[in-house]
Amino acid sequence: MCALSVPTIALTRGTNGEEVLIPQLGLGTYKIPDDEAECVVRDALAVGYRHIDTAQMYGNEAGVGRAIAACGLPRRDLFVTSKLDNPNHRRDDALRSLDATMGALGLEVLDLFLVHWPLATSTGIDLVDTWRTMIEILHSGRVRAIGVSNFQPDHLRRIVEATGVVPAVNQIELHPWLAQSELRSTHAQMGIATESWSPLGRGRLLTDPVVVRIAEAVGVSPAQVIIRWHLQNGLVVIPKSTHRERMIANADVIGFTLDDAHMAALDALDQGVRTGSHPDQVQV
Ligand code: A2P
Repeated sequence: MCALSVPTIALTRGTNGEEVLIPQLGLGTYKIPDDEAECVVRDALAVGYRHIDTAQMYGNEAGVGRAIAACGLPRRDLFVTSKLDNPNHRRDDALRSLDATMGALGLEVLDLFLVHWPLATSTGIDLVDTWRTMIEILHSGRVRAIGVSNFQPDHLRRIVEATGVVPAVNQIELHPWLAQSELRSTHAQMGIATESWSPLGRGRLLTDPVVVRIAEAVGVSPAQVIIRWHLQNGLVVIPKSTHRERMIANADVIGFTLDDAHMAALDALDQGVRTGSHPDQVQV
Protein backbone atom coordinates (compact mmCIF):
# COMPACT_ATOMS: atom_id res chain seq x y z
CA MET A 1 0.00 0.00 0.00
CA CYS A 2 2.13 2.84 -1.31
CA ALA A 3 1.16 6.41 -0.44
CA LEU A 4 0.46 8.74 -3.33
CA SER A 5 3.01 11.40 -3.96
CA VAL A 6 1.05 14.41 -2.70
CA PRO A 7 2.50 17.78 -1.62
CA THR A 8 1.74 18.99 1.91
CA ILE A 9 0.90 22.43 3.30
CA ALA A 10 2.09 23.54 6.74
CA LEU A 11 -0.84 24.76 8.84
CA THR A 12 -0.59 27.69 11.22
CA ARG A 13 0.96 26.29 14.38
CA GLY A 14 -1.40 25.56 17.24
CA THR A 15 -0.70 26.64 20.78
CA ASN A 16 1.44 23.56 21.39
CA GLY A 17 3.80 24.72 18.61
CA GLU A 18 3.60 21.41 16.75
CA GLU A 19 4.01 21.65 12.98
CA VAL A 20 0.98 20.07 11.31
CA LEU A 21 1.27 19.17 7.63
CA ILE A 22 -1.93 18.59 5.67
CA PRO A 23 -1.72 16.54 2.45
CA GLN A 24 -2.95 18.84 -0.32
CA LEU A 25 -5.18 16.10 -1.78
CA GLY A 26 -7.63 13.97 0.17
CA LEU A 27 -10.85 12.03 -0.23
CA GLY A 28 -14.15 13.80 0.49
CA THR A 29 -16.90 11.59 1.92
CA TYR A 30 -19.96 13.89 1.76
CA LYS A 31 -23.15 11.91 0.99
CA ILE A 32 -21.43 8.53 1.29
CA PRO A 33 -23.71 6.52 3.62
CA ASP A 34 -22.12 4.79 6.60
CA ASP A 35 -22.61 1.30 5.17
CA GLU A 36 -20.70 2.28 2.00
CA ALA A 37 -18.05 4.44 3.67
CA GLU A 38 -16.01 1.50 4.94
CA CYS A 39 -15.60 0.03 1.46
CA VAL A 40 -14.96 3.43 -0.21
CA VAL A 41 -12.37 4.54 2.35
CA ARG A 42 -10.75 1.09 2.30
CA ASP A 43 -10.31 1.50 -1.49
CA ALA A 44 -8.98 5.03 -1.09
CA LEU A 45 -6.38 3.94 1.46
CA ALA A 46 -5.44 0.95 -0.70
CA VAL A 47 -4.77 3.16 -3.73
CA GLY A 48 -2.64 5.54 -1.66
CA TYR A 49 -4.89 8.26 -0.23
CA ARG A 50 -3.73 9.27 3.25
CA HIS A 51 -6.11 12.20 3.91
CA ILE A 52 -9.78 11.48 4.63
CA ASP A 53 -12.41 14.17 5.23
CA THR A 54 -15.58 13.32 7.15
CA ALA A 55 -18.03 15.14 9.43
CA GLN A 56 -20.48 14.46 12.24
CA MET A 57 -23.23 15.65 9.86
CA TYR A 58 -22.36 13.01 7.23
CA GLY A 59 -23.29 10.15 9.59
CA ASN A 60 -20.43 8.02 8.22
CA GLU A 61 -17.67 8.42 10.83
CA ALA A 62 -18.15 4.82 12.00
CA GLY A 63 -17.71 3.46 8.46
CA VAL A 64 -14.61 5.62 8.00
CA GLY A 65 -13.35 4.32 11.37
CA ARG A 66 -13.85 0.68 10.35
CA ALA A 67 -11.75 1.25 7.22
CA ILE A 68 -9.02 2.97 9.25
CA ALA A 69 -9.00 0.14 11.80
CA ALA A 70 -8.65 -2.46 9.06
CA CYS A 71 -6.01 -0.71 6.94
CA GLY A 72 -2.96 -1.56 9.05
CA LEU A 73 -1.25 1.75 8.27
CA PRO A 74 0.72 3.57 10.99
CA ARG A 75 -1.46 6.26 12.54
CA ARG A 76 1.14 8.95 11.78
CA ASP A 77 0.73 8.27 8.03
CA LEU A 78 -2.96 9.26 8.07
CA PHE A 79 -4.57 12.69 8.18
CA VAL A 80 -8.21 12.62 9.34
CA THR A 81 -10.58 15.60 9.48
CA SER A 82 -14.01 15.78 11.07
CA LYS A 83 -16.41 18.65 11.72
CA LEU A 84 -18.61 19.85 14.58
CA ASP A 85 -22.29 19.61 13.63
CA ASN A 86 -24.62 22.59 13.97
CA PRO A 87 -26.65 21.24 16.94
CA ASN A 88 -23.43 20.59 18.91
CA HIS A 89 -22.00 24.10 19.36
CA ARG A 90 -22.80 24.42 23.08
CA ARG A 91 -19.66 23.54 25.09
CA ASP A 92 -20.95 20.37 26.74
CA ASP A 93 -22.52 19.16 23.49
CA ALA A 94 -19.31 19.88 21.59
CA LEU A 95 -17.18 17.91 24.07
CA ARG A 96 -19.66 15.02 24.09
CA SER A 97 -19.89 15.01 20.30
CA LEU A 98 -16.10 14.96 20.03
CA ASP A 99 -16.06 11.87 22.28
CA ALA A 100 -18.55 10.23 19.90
CA THR A 101 -16.50 11.26 16.86
CA MET A 102 -13.31 9.80 18.32
CA GLY A 103 -15.12 6.62 19.35
CA ALA A 104 -16.65 6.19 15.88
CA LEU A 105 -13.34 6.89 14.11
CA GLY A 106 -11.43 4.75 16.62
CA LEU A 107 -8.82 7.47 17.09
CA GLU A 108 -7.08 8.87 20.16
CA VAL A 109 -6.17 12.11 18.38
CA LEU A 110 -7.87 13.78 15.42
CA ASP A 111 -5.68 15.69 12.94
CA LEU A 112 -8.13 18.48 12.19
CA PHE A 113 -11.48 19.45 13.71
CA LEU A 114 -13.59 22.13 12.00
CA VAL A 115 -16.69 24.12 12.94
CA HIS A 116 -18.86 22.87 10.05
CA TRP A 117 -21.06 25.96 9.53
CA PRO A 118 -21.13 29.41 11.17
CA LEU A 119 -24.58 28.52 12.37
CA ALA A 120 -25.44 27.01 15.72
CA THR A 121 -28.91 25.53 15.93
CA SER A 122 -28.93 25.74 19.73
CA THR A 123 -30.12 29.16 20.90
CA GLY A 124 -28.01 31.74 22.72
CA ILE A 125 -24.70 30.50 21.32
CA ASP A 126 -22.40 32.99 19.65
CA LEU A 127 -19.68 31.95 17.18
CA VAL A 128 -17.06 33.32 19.56
CA ASP A 129 -18.31 30.93 22.28
CA THR A 130 -18.05 28.03 19.82
CA TRP A 131 -14.52 29.08 18.85
CA ARG A 132 -13.49 29.30 22.53
CA THR A 133 -14.68 25.69 22.95
CA MET A 134 -12.63 24.66 19.91
CA ILE A 135 -9.57 26.34 21.47
CA GLU A 136 -10.21 24.40 24.68
CA ILE A 137 -10.35 21.20 22.60
CA LEU A 138 -7.02 22.10 20.94
CA HIS A 139 -5.46 22.69 24.37
CA SER A 140 -6.74 19.30 25.53
CA GLY A 141 -4.46 17.63 22.95
CA ARG A 142 -7.29 15.58 21.43
CA VAL A 143 -6.93 17.35 18.08
CA ARG A 144 -3.75 18.54 16.35
CA ALA A 145 -5.35 21.54 14.64
CA ILE A 146 -8.65 23.42 14.67
CA GLY A 147 -10.34 25.33 11.90
CA VAL A 148 -13.66 26.32 10.41
CA SER A 149 -15.78 25.68 7.36
CA ASN A 150 -18.11 27.92 5.38
CA PHE A 151 -17.03 31.03 7.31
CA GLN A 152 -17.30 34.44 5.65
CA PRO A 153 -14.64 37.16 6.15
CA ASP A 154 -16.64 38.85 8.93
CA HIS A 155 -17.01 35.56 10.84
CA LEU A 156 -13.24 34.99 10.61
CA ARG A 157 -12.38 38.49 11.78
CA ARG A 158 -14.81 38.28 14.69
CA ILE A 159 -13.46 35.02 16.17
CA VAL A 160 -9.82 36.04 15.70
CA GLU A 161 -10.31 39.52 17.17
CA ALA A 162 -12.05 38.01 20.22
CA THR A 163 -9.59 35.18 20.90
CA GLY A 164 -6.32 35.87 19.06
CA VAL A 165 -6.42 32.29 17.73
CA VAL A 166 -6.42 31.94 13.95
CA PRO A 167 -8.22 28.93 12.39
CA ALA A 168 -5.72 26.67 10.64
CA VAL A 169 -8.16 26.10 7.76
CA ASN A 170 -11.38 27.44 6.28
CA GLN A 171 -13.02 24.74 4.16
CA ILE A 172 -15.36 26.37 1.64
CA GLU A 173 -17.16 25.57 -1.59
CA LEU A 174 -14.56 26.40 -4.23
CA HIS A 175 -14.08 25.43 -7.89
CA PRO A 176 -13.55 27.29 -11.17
CA TRP A 177 -17.20 28.46 -11.25
CA LEU A 178 -16.87 29.84 -7.68
CA ALA A 179 -13.29 31.02 -7.23
CA GLN A 180 -13.91 32.80 -3.89
CA SER A 181 -11.25 35.46 -4.50
CA GLU A 182 -12.31 37.71 -1.59
CA LEU A 183 -12.15 34.85 0.92
CA ARG A 184 -8.87 33.58 -0.50
CA SER A 185 -7.21 36.96 -0.10
CA THR A 186 -8.60 37.26 3.47
CA HIS A 187 -7.14 33.81 4.22
CA ALA A 188 -3.76 34.83 2.76
CA GLN A 189 -3.69 37.95 4.98
CA MET A 190 -4.66 35.98 8.10
CA GLY A 191 -2.51 32.86 7.53
CA ILE A 192 -5.45 30.50 7.00
CA ALA A 193 -5.15 27.55 4.58
CA THR A 194 -7.98 27.33 2.04
CA GLU A 195 -9.60 23.95 1.52
CA SER A 196 -11.99 23.39 -1.41
CA TRP A 197 -15.19 21.38 -0.92
CA SER A 198 -17.10 20.17 -3.97
CA PRO A 199 -13.93 20.92 -5.93
CA LEU A 200 -15.50 19.43 -9.09
CA GLY A 201 -18.74 21.38 -8.55
CA ARG A 202 -20.36 18.04 -7.60
CA GLY A 203 -19.27 16.73 -10.97
CA ARG A 204 -21.06 19.46 -12.95
CA LEU A 205 -17.81 21.13 -14.06
CA LEU A 206 -16.67 17.96 -15.80
CA THR A 207 -18.72 18.81 -18.89
CA ASP A 208 -17.86 22.51 -19.00
CA PRO A 209 -16.64 23.08 -22.60
CA VAL A 210 -13.57 25.06 -21.48
CA VAL A 211 -12.55 22.29 -19.07
CA VAL A 212 -13.13 19.64 -21.74
CA ARG A 213 -11.08 21.60 -24.31
CA ILE A 214 -8.14 21.97 -21.90
CA ALA A 215 -8.34 18.28 -20.96
CA GLU A 216 -8.11 17.31 -24.64
CA ALA A 217 -5.21 19.69 -25.24
CA VAL A 218 -3.23 18.40 -22.24
CA GLY A 219 -4.18 14.73 -22.74
CA VAL A 220 -5.77 14.22 -19.29
CA SER A 221 -9.36 13.96 -18.01
CA PRO A 222 -11.60 16.95 -17.12
CA ALA A 223 -11.46 15.92 -13.43
CA GLN A 224 -7.65 15.91 -13.53
CA VAL A 225 -7.63 19.41 -15.06
CA ILE A 226 -9.82 20.80 -12.29
CA ILE A 227 -7.94 19.07 -9.47
CA ARG A 228 -4.65 20.33 -10.94
CA TRP A 229 -6.11 23.88 -11.00
CA HIS A 230 -6.77 23.60 -7.24
CA LEU A 231 -3.28 22.30 -6.51
CA GLN A 232 -1.55 24.98 -8.61
CA ASN A 233 -3.59 27.61 -6.73
CA GLY A 234 -2.19 26.31 -3.41
CA LEU A 235 -5.57 24.96 -2.28
CA VAL A 236 -6.23 21.78 -0.31
CA VAL A 237 -8.62 19.70 -2.42
CA ILE A 238 -10.91 16.80 -1.42
CA PRO A 239 -12.66 15.37 -4.49
CA LYS A 240 -15.26 12.76 -3.61
CA SER A 241 -15.58 9.55 -5.57
CA THR A 242 -17.00 6.17 -4.68
CA HIS A 243 -15.27 4.54 -7.67
CA ARG A 244 -11.79 3.14 -7.21
CA GLU A 245 -10.69 3.88 -10.81
CA ARG A 246 -11.80 7.52 -10.47
CA MET A 247 -10.00 7.82 -7.12
CA ILE A 248 -6.80 6.65 -8.83
CA ALA A 249 -7.24 9.03 -11.77
CA ASN A 250 -8.17 11.98 -9.52
CA ALA A 251 -4.91 11.54 -7.62
CA ASP A 252 -2.79 11.09 -10.76
CA VAL A 253 -2.26 14.84 -11.12
CA ILE A 254 1.35 15.36 -10.15
CA GLY A 255 2.96 14.41 -13.50
CA PHE A 256 1.68 17.37 -15.54
CA THR A 257 1.18 21.12 -15.14
CA LEU A 258 -1.34 23.55 -16.56
CA ASP A 259 0.32 26.47 -18.31
CA ASP A 260 -0.55 30.11 -17.63
CA ALA A 261 -3.01 30.29 -20.54
CA HIS A 262 -4.92 27.23 -19.29
CA MET A 263 -4.96 28.54 -15.70
CA ALA A 264 -6.25 31.92 -16.96
CA ALA A 265 -8.98 30.24 -19.03
CA LEU A 266 -10.12 28.31 -15.93
CA ASP A 267 -9.93 31.45 -13.77
CA ALA A 268 -12.20 33.19 -16.31
CA LEU A 269 -14.99 30.63 -15.59
CA ASP A 270 -15.72 32.26 -12.21
CA GLN A 271 -19.38 33.35 -12.22
CA GLY A 272 -20.13 32.93 -8.53
CA VAL A 273 -22.13 29.75 -9.22
CA ARG A 274 -22.75 27.60 -6.14
CA THR A 275 -23.65 23.92 -6.14
CA GLY A 276 -24.29 23.85 -2.36
CA SER A 277 -25.78 26.12 0.33
CA HIS A 278 -24.69 29.71 0.90
CA PRO A 279 -23.33 30.04 4.45
CA ASP A 280 -25.96 32.69 5.25
CA GLN A 281 -28.87 30.60 4.00
CA VAL A 282 -27.88 27.04 4.85
CA GLN A 283 -30.73 24.67 5.59
CA VAL A 284 -30.11 22.82 8.84
P1 A2P B 1 -18.79 9.15 -8.04
O1 A2P B 1 -18.77 9.23 -6.53
O2 A2P B 1 -19.89 8.29 -8.57
O3 A2P B 1 -17.44 8.83 -8.63
P2 A2P B 1 -17.28 16.91 -5.80
O4 A2P B 1 -16.05 16.31 -5.24
O5 A2P B 1 -17.08 18.22 -6.49
O6 A2P B 1 -18.42 16.98 -4.81
O7 A2P B 1 -17.77 15.94 -6.98
C1 A2P B 1 -18.20 14.64 -6.68
C2 A2P B 1 -18.99 14.10 -7.83
O8 A2P B 1 -18.14 13.96 -8.98
C3 A2P B 1 -19.52 12.73 -7.53
O9 A2P B 1 -20.81 12.63 -8.13
C4 A2P B 1 -18.53 11.78 -8.21
O10 A2P B 1 -19.18 10.60 -8.61
C5 A2P B 1 -18.10 12.59 -9.40
N1 A2P B 1 -16.71 12.30 -9.79
C6 A2P B 1 -15.61 12.35 -9.02
N2 A2P B 1 -14.50 12.07 -9.73
C7 A2P B 1 -14.92 11.83 -11.00
C8 A2P B 1 -14.25 11.48 -12.20
N3 A2P B 1 -12.94 11.32 -12.24
N4 A2P B 1 -15.00 11.32 -13.33
C9 A2P B 1 -16.34 11.48 -13.29
N5 A2P B 1 -17.04 11.81 -12.18
C10 A2P B 1 -16.34 11.98 -11.05
